[in-house]
Amino acid sequence: MALRASPASPLPSSARGRRAYGASPVVAMASTLNRVKTVKEPYTPPREVHLQVTHSLPTQKKEIFDSLQSWAKENLLNLLKPVEKSWQPQDFLPEPSSDGFYDEVKELRERAKEIPDEYFVCLVGDMVTEEALPTYQTMLNTLDGVRDETGASPTTWAVWTRAWTAEENRHGDLLNKYMYLTGRVDMKQIEKTIQYLIGSGMDPGTENNPYLGFLYTSFQERATFISHGNTARHAKEYGDLKLAQICGTIAADEKRHETAYTKIVEKLFEIDPDYTVLAFADMMRKKITMPAHLMYDGKDDNLFEHFSAVAQRLGVYTAKDYADILEFLVHRWKVVDLTGLSGEGRRAQDFVCTLAPRIRRLEERAQARAKQGPIIPFSWIYDRKVQL
Ligand SMILES: [Fe+2]
Ligand SMILES: [Fe+2]
Repeated sequence: MALRASPASPLPSSARGRRAYGASPVVAMASTLNRVKTVKEPYTPPREVHLQVTHSLPTQKKEIFDSLQSWAKENLLNLLKPVEKSWQPQDFLPEPSSDGFYDEVKELRERAKEIPDEYFVCLVGDMVTEEALPTYQTMLNTLDGVRDETGASPTTWAVWTRAWTAEENRHGDLLNKYMYLTGRVDMKQIEKTIQYLIGSGMDPGTENNPYLGFLYTSFQERATFISHGNTARHAKEYGDLKLAQICGTIAADEKRHETAYTKIVEKLFEIDPDYTVLAFADMMRKKITMPAHLMYDGKDDNLFEHFSAVAQRLGVYTAKDYADILEFLVHRWKVVDLTGLSGEGRRAQDFVCTLAPRIRRLEERAQARAKQGPIIPFSWIYDRKVQL
């Protein structure tokens, strides 16, 4: 499996240092750079990323995004919810000014007692991921042709990105406050993890290229929709209907965001199919790294791998989900039906259309070989131990 795209590819490969697709996606999610050097220079992040490709979008393609502004106004902004009609974290939390506040908190804590530690590991990992939102807004603003140039730019792309961020901001807020009230998790360790993670950033391999960027966000919004949907389902099974409602409400936002980002990519497939399918294949060859892949809590050098292993075992987010998302997107964008592609475009088309079954097969084989994981402590739950 070549790790590097052919020199003729319009997309310079940033695949060096990344895994080929053959490895388990869950392992790959935790792929790069998760060893923390014991001695760090002061003020450097705990995880550092090297070999990053920048500005791979050809200049003439930038104009496509300028010309799509009115399209985006009609097709994207209508997928946002007006603030006055939006839910807020407080809608799901005990009202601190009410006389019933203490009773409500007591009930919340009683319900949370029924929830196993391993579930909290997944929920905390999801919450930490949401809390690194500054990184994701930064990531969107790295994309050539669509970035918010001023912080208050009136372009449709910038309006979308700010409003998307503002909607997303409620997710971490709500999960964080809920988690605090349960009394089940070590908030200081969680807060340290968030600070470390934002300090490290992320490495999605999107090369300032909005084609790659919107493919990435399409995949990611669906991944978070699935993951929050599963934590909702589990919470219901444990009898915490309030928590189920919280996770389900967040999942619904992710679904709406998935709709928006997949619409952008659908449009790109319509106007520029060859380059878009090459971009899709490029992202899939590099693998979709999870947004919080650089997480660290000051203790566990392989925290993300460990969190991912628990999420896999509990069925919150699995290698099968990774393959399912890919297959969903291939179907959503009708990649099989693309015509008039270049030779390289056809090879990329073939690659993405046949990848999901190959990932599934490899994963099934890996699962069959897998031994039971170790039981390890998680600082997020006061070093109580959980099976990987
Ligand atoms: Fe979110
Ligand atoms: Fe999201």
